[in-house]
Amino acid sequence: MSEHPLVLGIETSCDETGVGIVHGQTLLVDAVASSVDEHARFGGVVPEIASRAHLEAMVPTIERACAQAGVRLSDLDAIAVTSGPGLAGALMVGVASAKALALGLGIPLYGVNHLASHVAVDIIEHGPLPEPTLAMLVSGGHSSLLLVPDVTCDVRSLGATIDDAAGEAFDKVARVLGLPFPGGPHIDRAASEGEITIDFPRGLTSRRDMERHRFDFSFSGLKTAVTRWVEAERAAGRDVPVADVAASFQEAVTDVLVRKAILACREHDVAALQVGGGVAANSRLRAMAAERGAAAGIEVRIPRRALCTDNGAMVAALGAQMVAKGRAPSTLDLPADSSMPVTDVQSGLPVDVDHDHPH
Ligand code: KG4
Ligand code: ZN
Repeated sequence: MSEHPLVLGIETSCDETGVGIVHGQTLLVDAVASSVDEHARFGGVVPEIASRAHLEAMVPTIERACAQAGVRLSDLDAIAVTSGPGLAGALMVGVASAKALALGLGIPLYGVNHLASHVAVDIIEHGPLPEPTLAMLVSGGHSSLLLVPDVTCDVRSLGATIDDAAGEAFDKVARVLGLPFPGGPHIDRAASEGEITIDFPRGLTSRRDMERHRFDFSFSGLKTAVTRWVEAERAAGRDVPVADVAASFQEAVTDVLVRKAILACREHDVAALQVGGGVAANSRLRAMAAERGAAAGIEVRIPRRALCTDNGAMVAALGAQMVAKGRAPSTLDLPADSSMPVTDVQSGLPVDVDHDHPH
């Protein structure tokens, strides 16, 4: 098939119904319908609400994407869909829709990993990924350092969070500070008006932890430290300096993330660091990664904010790479796998494909 396939990607792993269309490495459209407002009053994503919202948004979002891109469904070369990890019911809506499209149009279907998609999206922003790339994925559900020799088939885990994900820490601390859900963007904004005045703990960075958990993260101790600090202020009858707490917390998270990512690049001899996932939208993380990367001689690649949070274009981007590299499509019985391992880039691999050597 073509080196510049026209691929429609569907993402429904959480609360965003994303439909993106990519032509080779060019983004044509990224249509997103979010149910985030429906979850806000619960302080977190409610799976049942998300699934129902995906059902309602799916067809209109596909239609909107095609109309904006000037693409007819019959023009498509392949369909790609997030098959995991994520919320089971939410994933099922996307997977069923993708199967129906692929079957109806008679075109190949690629069931892909959500996390690998967060990495692949950078191709439509900055061009082909250096091989290998070191990817840091920081979202509401994941915080991982990945060694990526080939995003279409070979993703290796170097480390991950042992408790809360980075985005989860942002969301929980925001709640403590009385900021709305999802908290990341609110902390980011508040922090821009504050000073780093409090030295919050950097999880898993002690000498001993660096032996056992070199590329792992832990954010629950930090969250507890922030909560205690805020409670002590309130108990003493003082106003909580929200902007300063936000800035100090953000600095602690970012410092650990960037420090470990650069160390991983050095130790694995990788010259490119890609940062993806919702938390990659954070201003301080973007600035610090760029600054420390430049000092270490490492090329830092972070897509624009809209492509960092969940979207359909990232799925289409990975699908287009798979088509261009001649990877076998997934079988039509591919599952929605809520706990799909990060090392499985594709689901529903045909049985005759050697999983360890798919080339
Ligand atoms: O990748 P994503 O959209 O969904 C998941 O797969 O989880 O990430 C959502 C997470 C939320 O926790 C949100 O608070 C966080 O990304 N986030 C941010 C920012 N924008 C979104 N965290 C810090 N700073 C931001 N500007
Ligand atoms: Zn995500």
